Amino acid sequence: MLKSRISGAGMFVPPKVVKNTDLEKLMETSDEWIQQRSGIQERRWAEPGMTTSGMGLEASKAALNDAGKKPDDIDAIIFATLSPDMNFPGSGVLLQKNLCPQKMVPALDVRNQCSGFLYSLSIADAWIRTGMYKCVLVVGSEIHSNGLDISTEGRDVSVLFGDGAGAVVVEPTSDVNAGFLAHNLHSEGEHAERLCILRPSSSDFPRLTKGDMKIDRTFFAQMDGKFVFKNAVTRMCEVIHEACKDAGVKPQDIDFVIAHQANMRINQMVLQQLEIPQDKTLNTIQKYGNTTAATIPIGITEAKRQGLLKKGQLVAMVGFGSGFTWGANLMRWS
Ligand code: ACO
Repeated sequence: MLKSRISGAGMFVPPKVVKNTDLEKLMETSDEWIQQRSGIQERRWAEPGMTTSGMGLEASKAALNDAGKKPDDIDAIIFATLSPDMNFPGSGVLLQKNLCPQKMVPALDVRNQCSGFLYSLSIADAWIRTGMYKCVLVVGSEIHSNGLDISTEGRDVSVLFGDGAGAVVVEPTSDVNAGFLAHNLHSEGEHAERLCILRPSSSDFPRLTKGDMKIDRTFFAQMDGKFVFKNAVTRMCEVIHEACKDAGVKPQDIDFVIAHQANMRINQMVLQQLEIPQDKTLNTIQKYGNTTAATIPIGITEAKRQGLLKKGQLVAMVGFGSGFTWGANLMRWS
């Protein structure tokens, strides 16, 4: 049975650093509140001229370089984002245009917010295991900053998010002990409105009124923070147990966790409940905030660059977010 592995990883974050103290000048908040509640110290904000697909392009080039591959080696692109350059088409085709214009590979956009990258990895693995493709580029990229309500009214959400991109190359492996072991994915649409952006919406008739566009709170992300927090801890623990059961291992066997970065306290609680030592993970939320679909590939890239991912390690990736959607992928690093 063919298996697949991550053969390279890369990332890109905009150079503009926005510290908590910079936000203090824009809204009623404090560095102390933000750090205490979320762990975030600073985040990156994109500047005019930057795009979600463009940042994905930079991350992709770095991932291909890390894997020793060229753009024309790619057989397929999967692009996870909730902040595409255009409402349609998706950002994947723009990446194809700029990365491998001569090779008209398929490009699939995944709209699954914080779990988008985990869902995308499962698709890449399935494509490779069936023999359909041999080299799949999986990208997560987001520009949140220009869509946030940067005011005291929007502070519960706007202090949490940052911009960034990450990418990995997924390829077959002949090593039966390496690569993906389990993918466990879930959704619970009952809670869609606990974390969402309502407008523009196809359920409004007309969708937009010419000359009468009132930008109210429905155009900004709204979040029931406490409810999301509690569900995130519960579901992330559950899904890791589930993935471990499917792979025939125990949570305590996990050597390294790459968790979605929504809140450092969520990740600490998840590890504590699973009895996994806190030093078996790498949190990047301090530097980048929540970059949604990009947090996991950024985490993989930073962990790889710091030498924290070693051949043979049992690695768990886990995330939870809007939808609700959540999931975990277990793999033997190689
Ligand atoms: N600065 C200062 N005060 C603030 C801020 C801020 N930025 N934001 C809110 N407050 C105030 C509130 O108004 C409230 O004041 P009150 O007590 O006078 O009413 C007080 O701080 C406490 O607010 P809470 O919401 O109770 O704070 P909590 O401890 O729950 O932390 C947080 C809030 C950080 C948002 C937390 O609930 C959380 O992280 N939730 C989960 C986020 C998450 O996982 N999101 C999913 C991924 S995102 C995606 O999928 C797109």
